[in-house]
Amino acid sequence: MRLILFYVCIFLFICENINAWRIFHHGRMVGGNLGKPFPDKPQQLKKVSEQWFMQNLDHFNPGSDQKWKQRYFVNGEFYMGSPTGPIFLMIGGEGEASDKWMTQGTWIDYAKTFKALCFQLEHRYYGESHPTPDLSTKNLQYLTSQQALADLAFFIESMNEQYKFDNSVKWIVFGGSYPGSLAAWLRMKYPHLVQGAMSASGPLLAEVDFKDYYRVVDDALTTSSDTCATAVKQGTEQIVTLLRHMIGQRNINELFKLCDPIDQSIKNSNDVSNFFETLAGNFAGVVQYNKDNRIGKGKSNITIDTLCDIMDNDKLGPPIDRLAAVNTLILDAYNQTCLDYKYDKMIGQYRNISWDSETSEGGRQWTYQTCTEFGFFQSSNYTPQNFGDKFPVDFFIQQCVDIFGPKYNKAFLDASIRRTNTLYGALNIDVTNVVFVHGSIDPWHALGITQTQRQAAPAIYIEGTAHCANMYPKAVDDPPQLNAARVEVLELIDSWIRL
Ligand SMILES: *[C@@H]1O[C@H](CO)[C@@H](O)[C@H](O)[C@H]1NC(C)=O
Ligand SMILES: *[C@@H]1O[C@H](CO)[C@@H](O)[C@H](O)[C@H]1NC(C)=O
Ligand SMILES: *[C@@H]1O[C@H](CO)[C@@H](O)[C@H](O)[C@H]1NC(C)=O
Repeated sequence: MRLILFYVCIFLFICENINAWRIFHHGRMVGGNLGKPFPDKPQQLKKVSEQWFMQNLDHFNPGSDQKWKQRYFVNGEFYMGSPTGPIFLMIGGEGEASDKWMTQGTWIDYAKTFKALCFQLEHRYYGESHPTPDLSTKNLQYLTSQQALADLAFFIESMNEQYKFDNSVKWIVFGGSYPGSLAAWLRMKYPHLVQGAMSASGPLLAEVDFKDYYRVVDDALTTSSDTCATAVKQGTEQIVTLLRHMIGQRNINELFKLCDPIDQSIKNSNDVSNFFETLAGNFAGVVQYNKDNRIGKGKSNITIDTLCDIMDNDKLGPPIDRLAAVNTLILDAYNQTCLDYKYDKMIGQYRNISWDSETSEGGRQWTYQTCTEFGFFQSSNYTPQNFGDKFPVDFFIQQCVDIFGPKYNKAFLDASIRRTNTLYGALNIDVTNVVFVHGSIDPWHALGITQTQRQAAPAIYIEGTAHCANMYPKAVDDPPQLNAARVEVLELIDSWIRL
C-alpha cells in the first residue's frame, strides 16, 4: 500500500495530509478499483502511444454536436496487420487509465498469443478525459454508463475506418470492476461491434443497500481464523461502550489516533458514522485486494492473515486494543499521522467541482455514479454487524444529498437503481460470448454472476482470490485455480475469435 500511495502521490500531487477516506472510500480505491499491474516495467512503455479521439458529448441528443477529446492508448507491438484483427480493447473505468496496462497483465499475454492490436479507452470524466470545463452537478449529467458505452461504440467504429479493418474484424473487450460490467453491457448492446467480452469482478446488480459487501468481508476474515470476526465484533462493541462517557471518549482519541477529539463530535451522528465506517474500511480495503499482483505487492505485505493475527493476539490487550493496532498499521501504511473522520471536511472535498481538486481523481465522479445509477452503498446493515450498526444506508443517501443537492434523495435513488436494472437486465442479463470472472473473497462478487446460467456466457468463480485477480500479471505464488481460470479465459477467447 505504501508504494501505491507513492504512485498516487507522484500522479496526483496529494502527498500531504492524505486521510483514510481519501484512499479507500466506499469500496473504491483512490485511482479506481483496478490497481496497476506488478511488476512495474517502465522501459516497455516506449511501445505505447497516447492518442486523443474526438468524441460526442451527448450521444442521445441528435441535435447536439458538442465534442470533446477522449484519451486512449495503443500498443501495436504484437499485431501482424491482419484486417480481421483480432483487436483487444481494455475498457477504462472509475479512475485514470494507466498506460502500464498496455504492456502488462493477463490480457497482454493473450495479445501475444493471438497477435492482437491493443487499445485502452479512458472513461469519460476520469483521468485526462474531460468532457466539460468542470465537474459541476449540472455538467455531470453527461456522466452515465450509457454515454460511456456509446463512447466505446463510436470509438470502435472509428478505429475500424481508420485502420481499414475488415467487416469480419474481431473486437474482444476486457474490463475489471465497473468496467467489467461495462464489458458485458457493451457486448449486449453492441453485438455487431464486439465479438466477445471478459468481464472481471463486475457488479451487474444495482442495489441501494449493498449490505452483503460486509458479509463477504466477514466470510473472508473467517477463512483466516474462526475467531477473527468475533474479535472485531467485540472490539467494536467496546468502542460503543467507551463512546458513552467522556473518559471513554478521550481513550478513543488516543487509541485510534483521531485528528480531532471525538468528545466534540459525539452529538454529530455523521462524524460517528464516518468513524465507524473508516474502521470497517481498514478491513475491507485489505480484503478487497488480498494477495493480488498490483504495483505495491512487494512492499505491502498486509493481508487478511496480518489483520487476523493481530485480532487473535490476546497479548495485545482486549479486542479494542487490537482494533486500534490494526488502525495504526493501516495509518502507517498510508503514511498518516492521525485518523480523520470529520464528515463536513470530507463532504467539502467531494463538493469541489474543479478539475484541480483532490477528489477529481475520480472520487466525486464515482460518488455521482453511485448516487444516480448504482447505489452499491456498503452499509452496516448486514447482521451480525461485526463492524457495528452506525453506518446504515441512510448515511450514504445523506451524502448524495449533501454533495449533489436535495434532489438526490432516497426516492430519486430508488428510481435510478430501477432504471439501471431495467436497462441492463441486472443478473438476468441475456448475452453470449461473455465470461464472468469472480473471486470468492472479493466482496463485489455478491452483485455479480458467479454461476453459469447460460452456456454461451459462462461464469468462473475462483476460490480464494480477490478483486480482478485474473487480470494482473502472473506471479509464481499464484494459486493453481487462478492460473486455471486464466487458461479457461484464453480458450474462450480462442473460440470466439474462430467463430
Ligand atoms: C511519508 O511521510 C514522510 C514524512 O512526512 C515523508 O518524508 C515520506 O516521503 C512519506 N512517504 C510516502 C511514501 O509518502
Ligand atoms: C512487512 O515487511 C517488512 C519488511 O520486509 C517488515 O518489516 C514488516 O514487519 C512486515 N509487516 C507485516 C505486517 O508483516
Ligand atoms: C477546490 O480545489 C482546488 C484545488 O485544490 C482549490 O484551489 C479550491 O480552493 C477548492 N475549491 C473549494 C471551493 O474548496
